This record gives sequence, structure tokens and C-alpha cells, in this order.
Amino acid sequence: MRSLLVIVLAAGEGTRMRSDRPKVLHALAGRTMLSHVLDTAMQAGAAHLAVVVGPGHDAVAAEARRTAPEAEVFVQAERRGTADAVLAARAAIERGFDDVVVMYGDTPLVRPATLTGLRTPLADGAGVAVLGFRPADPTGYGRLLTSGGELFAIREEEDATAEEKAIGLCNAGLMAFDGRLALDLFGRIGNANAKGEFYLTDAVEIARTLGRRAGFHEAAVAEVAGVNSRLQLAAAEALMQTRLRRAALGGGATLVAPETVFFSYDTKVGRDVVIEPHVVFGLNVRVEDGATVRSFTHMEGARIGPGAIVGPFARLRPGADLGKDVHVGNFVEIKASELSAGVKVNHLSYVGDTSVGERTNVGAGTITCNYDGFRKHRTVIGADSFIGTNTLLVAPVSVGERAYIGTGSVITDDVPPDALAIARARQVNKPGLAARLRERLSAGLLPKK
Ligand code: UD1
Ligand code: MG
Repeated sequence: MRSLLVIVLAAGEGTRMRSDRPKVLHALAGRTMLSHVLDTAMQAGAAHLAVVVGPGHDAVAAEARRTAPEAEVFVQAERRGTADAVLAARAAIERGFDDVVVMYGDTPLVRPATLTGLRTPLADGAGVAVLGFRPADPTGYGRLLTSGGELFAIREEEDATAEEKAIGLCNAGLMAFDGRLALDLFGRIGNANAKGEFYLTDAVEIARTLGRRAGFHEAAVAEVAGVNSRLQLAAAEALMQTRLRRAALGGGATLVAPETVFFSYDTKVGRDVVIEPHVVFGLNVRVEDGATVRSFTHMEGARIGPGAIVGPFARLRPGADLGKDVHVGNFVEIKASELSAGVKVNHLSYVGDTSVGERTNVGAGTITCNYDGFRKHRTVIGADSFIGTNTLLVAPVSVGERAYIGTGSVITDDVPPDALAIARARQVNKPGLAARLRERLSAGLLPKK
């Protein structure tokens, strides 16, 4: 096992995003690009992580530490090119690693296996290895000058001859270096080129002059797509969603119209789950085996137990915990509430800060009044109870097991087990009054307005 240091370059300003937020903090599938890249590095077995940020990019540093608490953050004082950026992390390289891999914070779709592939030439004795790809339009990328499996140089667009520009194999940006050679290589890189920048890519030719081979590994275009604009961010999101949909399908879920279902990077979907068209998964949702999520449902921070049915048009908010075979129907919102096995909340309800015992039926239009304008309060409903239609449960309040609440009640006091509670004004019928009022109106005895 060769030890691995991954250096993530994230010092770019991201001007083309037209954003107040640093580019690498824009999100794909609910997670920042920087976090995706660091996670890939960790999955690929990085022993150490270094992140190079721009001056004043404290939010980027904080996000790096949030994702990878052990990551070391370095500041590149001035934007002088990719080699200069990598040298900002000199202290990390000096710790001594077998392999040093450079990744870009704005290239979030790379898979861990691709990093492993990129490192293979190093294990075979190469001093440098480069990730190559064949974009539909190579304009703007560095071209790989190769022969057989060997790499001779990387030529930046600005410095390339017409003949070199015709080469389709390009530099994706990820590079791997023999850790013992790395600092020597980087130290020899100059800036005598069209842009006057220190090009990391020059390391290929320098390694060769030092008698070391350079190799390359080819990756799929979709994996190395970089993000420089909102348009490219949307394109990367689409690629990420395709990947997440395939993972759900591969895990044994049915997606009736996969292209209309949107996942978060951490969504967990079990076997024999059915997801109907037009469903959105926010962060931290788990759908257990055999559950069904019907159309136009939005979820975040929720667990959907085995066999449960949610939607259509349901909203599950953080802390919604649905047990086995629970039914949550149309226009129902659940927040911070545990619904035990077999509970039904089928229509037009709000259940918040509540626990509901097994098999209880919550009628249409039930609202838990959990907020008094100052604080949130809990509602506790026992098992096998029945909450009549259009009930208001004014928290804090509890309803005992097997209790029955009459339709239209405003429940402000605890209801004991097995009790029937009705809390609404009594109805009054006044025979003939409607007819008499109508007669007076037509006789002009009542004001019209
Ligand atoms: C680079 C490569 C090019 C490759 C392309 C792939 C070099 C010299 N060229 O070109 O061969 O085809 O990426 O996208 O490496 N960065 C810093 N500090 C700097 C300069 C850059 O952190 O001083 C970061 C950027 O934020 C970015 C990455 O390094 O994430 C690449 O820099 P960029 O300027 O986009 O390089 P390209 O010209 O695209
Ligand atoms: Mg670029």
C-alpha cells in the first residue's frame, strides 16, 4: 500500500459564476463541490488531505474542515498558476508520502476508482501521471503529447502549435506525482509561457529530463467535467443525478420516470421501493424496503419505514420518522414527529412535534398547534386512537390510547385513555328562521347591503 497525499486546489475566484459565494462552495446534490472532492479523496484512501484556498476564503477553509476535520488548509497568497498553488502546500508534501495527487475543487464528479487508476503508473515506476480525457471540443485544454503508453509533454492551448491543437486527448487537470520527486519537480517549474504562469503541467517534461517516465490514465468525459459557470453547474448536477438514479435502480428500487426524481448525495433507498414521477429528496432521507413514494412529494431529514406509503403531494420535514406501513397522504406535512407502525394521516393535515402510537387514525384536516408564538410544544397521541376530522390539538396536550376525538374539536386538555372527547360549540337549529329572513328581504324590510 502506497501512502497518499491529496492536494485540492480551490483558490480560484470563480468570476464566471457571478456569485458572492466562492465557486467550490456551490452545491451538487445537496453537497458542496469541495466536499464531493474531499470525500472522493478519502474514499480513494488518502492518508492526508491539503486544501489550497485563496486569501480571505475563510468559508472555504471552514467547509474543508467540516468535511474532513484532519485536512490542512493552505493559503495561496497570489494567483500565479497551478504549480504555485500546489507549492502553497509544501509543508504537507514535506511530510513525505509515496504518492501526491492534485485534484481541482471545481471538478467534482471524479470517482475514487479513477484516482486509483491515475496512481497506477506511479506504482510501476513513473515519476508523474496525468488524467487524460477526450472532450467533444478540446479548445482551452492542455493537450497530451503521447506515444504508445508514454506521455512526453502537456501543451497548454496558448502555447500549442496548430498540429498540437489537433490532438483530441486532453489534460483533465488531475495529476499524480512520486512523492519523493514532487518538490524537486515543482521547484524547477518556471513561468516562461504565454500566460506568465507557473504551470503544473510542465512537471511532465521536467520529470523526463530527470530520467523519469510520465504516464497517463484516461477517464470518461462525464467524470472530469469542470464547473466554471452556472450552466456548467447545472450540467454537472444532471450528471450527478443520473449517477444517483442509476444507484437507486441498481439497488432494487423502481423509478417509474427516473429523469424526474431528484436525489441528495446521501439519500438511502431500499429494495422494492417504488418512486413515482416528480419526487424530490432533500438531505438525509432514508426509504426502507418496500415503501412507496408517490408523485410530487418533497422530503428532507426523514425516515420512511418498510411498506409505508407517502404522497402524492406530501411534505416530510426534518425529524419525520414514519414506522412500518404508515400512510401519509395528500397535502400532509409532518415535522419532528414519530408515527408508529400502521398510523394513517391521509389528508390535509399538519403534524409537528408529535408522537403518534400504533394504528392510530388521524382524520382529514387535523392540525397540531405546536407553536404559541414563543415556543414549540409537543403533542402525544396514544395507540389505537381516532382523531376526528378537522381537530385542533393545542399543544402541549396528550390523547390517551384508544381515545376518540369528535370531529371539529379544539382539544386543549389532556384526553384520558378510552375516553371520548368532543370540544366544539353545540349546534342550534331555529326552525323556519331562514324562510322568514328570506321573506323580509324580498319585502324590502332588510337592508340589501
Ligand atoms: C488547467 C491545466 C490544463 C487542463 C485544464 C483542465 C495547467 C497549467 N493547465 O488549465 O492543462 O487541461 O486545467 O481543466 O495546470 N488554481 C489555483 N491557483 C492558481 C491557478 C489555478 O488554485 O494560481 C486552481 C483553479 O482554481 C482551478 C485549477 O487550479 O481549480 C485549474 O486552474 P485553471 O486556471 O482553471 O487552469 P486551466 O487554464 O483551466
Ligand atoms: Mg480551468
